[in-house]
Amino acid sequence: MSVRLILVGPPGAGKGTQAAGIAERYGIPAISTGDLFRAHAKAQDELGRLAASYSEKGELVPDSVTNQMVEERLGEADAAAGFLLDGYPRNLDQVSALDAMLGEKNVDVVVELQADDDVVVQRLLGRAQEQGRADDTEEVIRHRIEVYHATTKPIIDAYAGRGLVVSVNGLGTVEEVAAAIDDALRDFLGR
Ligand code: AP5
Repeated sequence: MSVRLILVGPPGAGKGTQAAGIAERYGIPAISTGDLFRAHAKAQDELGRLAASYSEKGELVPDSVTNQMVEERLGEADAAAGFLLDGYPRNLDQVSALDAMLGEKNVDVVVELQADDDVVVQRLLGRAQEQGRADDTEEVIRHRIEVYHATTKPIIDAYAGRGLVVSVNGLGTVEEVAAAIDDALRDFLGR
């Protein structure tokens, strides 16, 4: 029951939290560009240092770097039949890059997780206390939200124009949001 799925939403909407359950249900790998960058940063390799220099400020990592990393990841065997992309594409140029990578068999569905700015700020400040992620300071969180509205939201319109977007309310408990995503996907995909 494979599917090619994009999960999009503001910082703190719950993309990472929900990705695992969706991926498990459809038997696909969850691929988070943010997680990939953080893994490189932890390994202190060249890509990690470069990515951290942008993400610590809440800026997007340059497209050339991000697109190449995603293309390599999608080339791995486990992504051949389907995948969930969390945090990619994040601007219109990345949409074009993904189109080129996927060719005719493009994505099946784009799940937009909606959440108010005030709620996501509170969630991320809570996570900052638990995990101390470098980009979870209030100033950087607010900048990430600005970048989302200016740069990432337009991709939702682009995919909506192709009839691929399902929007889900990201407010509520983790279980309630998971159930809402499940229902929306079943309606949209018929499976
Ligand atoms: P990325 O890691 O993608 O960060 P983000 O989009 O800001 O998303 P978050 O991980 O902060 O939030 P989330 O929606 O996954 O929420 P989560 O489930 O964690 O990107 C980080 C950086 O990497 C970018 O700023 C950029 O620099 C770079 N980058 C990544 N992709 C890139 C790209 N394509 N191009 C260029 N640069 C890129 O939940 C958040 C918190 O809320 C958690 O504590 C969680 O427990 C809690 N929570 C979740 N759901 C609920 C709920 N229903 N109720 C209460 N609490 C909840």
